[in-house]
Amino acid sequence: MRLDLAPTDDVFVLTGAGISAESGVATFRDANGLWENHKVEEVATPEAFATQPVLVWRFYAQRRAQAKTVAPNPGHRALAALEARLGDRFYLATQNVDNLHEAAGSTRLVHMHGELFKSRCSDPACDRAPFVDDRSDFSDGLPRCACGELERPHIVWFGEMPFEMHAIKRRVQRATVFLCVGTSGVVYPAAGLVGEMAYRKSMGERVRSIYVGLERPANAAQFDQVVLGKAGEVLPGFLAA
Ligand code: OAD
Repeated sequence: MRLDLAPTDDVFVLTGAGISAESGVATFRDANGLWENHKVEEVATPEAFATQPVLVWRFYAQRRAQAKTVAPNPGHRALAALEARLGDRFYLATQNVDNLHEAAGSTRLVHMHGELFKSRCSDPACDRAPFVDDRSDFSDGLPRCACGELERPHIVWFGEMPFEMHAIKRRVQRATVFLCVGTSGVVYPAAGLVGEMAYRKSMGERVRSIYVGLERPANAAQFDQVVLGKAGEVLPGFLAA
């Protein structure tokens, strides 16, 4: 099975934890949404950072340390190769905070849920921009911005707005092919993006949406095609030139 693309096709790709699973990054579902008996939803929130910043930084420090040990898999590389072929007719929005898409060579991508290897000042009024940060040892104390406030991971926590939603929606609206890989389809607004394609199709536009992943996502009914399998096994053939 191969994705047939016309020279006029514009491809929007949405990836989730499943694309990084074969690289050894645990998906949220695999971990049952738990970390050291805490629900991830209780650690990855502005409220948790306000009351227990040490716990929150410990969680991200562990994730940074683990993320340094993993490498891109054939799924990430197949998407980078597709981008190399399509250029500006390709756009990738990932829900993942790891940097495996970049490591595989993707450049036209946004991290809608933030980036593990960036931090920023926790004070929204501070004008310091988010910065690259791979520190994972905070035994000497939590990092502080020059303004005096704590630094925080550059991650979209529960209850916060994903990044780049305006640009993402614009790209979905101009896409003719929506390819979604390895996401359970339960976390919004990401899970709602395919709905835009379904709506445009119902209005007579020639657009397609395809899901690739291990199991049917919660929003499977909105896709035209569901291809079941591991991303690293399906994508190289599916996206071959
Ligand atoms: P999930 O863990 O909810 O879902 C991962 C999906 O990947 C599941 O549907 C699996 O079947 C599938 N999968 C597992 N291994 C795979 C493989 N080798 N190839 C293809 N698919 C595979 O992760 P997400 O849907 O990405 O948000 O989670 C979405 C968001 O929920 C995350 O970004 C995070 C979380 O709360 C925030 O942190 C804001």
